[in-house]
Amino acid sequence: MIVCLCNALSDAQLADAIAKGARRPKDVYCACGGAAQCGTCTKTILTMIRETPTASTNPAGLP
Ligand code: FES
Repeated sequence: MIVCLCNALSDAQLADAIAKGARRPKDVYCACGGAAQCGTCTKTILTMIRETPTASTNPAGLP
């Protein structure tokens, strides 16, 4: 599903960037080769970031 229409970024692309360490929307756009434009998708990206555990919040790497 496309989440960011401006950059044509799918939820899978965004999730991959977040899983690889992007922790701010700006970093997620950059990792996907895009850039913030209208900002409509920012809330969704922030939710995805919050719902993705990091190494510091999940040191054992449990799912
Ligand atoms: S929909 Fe993502 S920047 Fe516009």
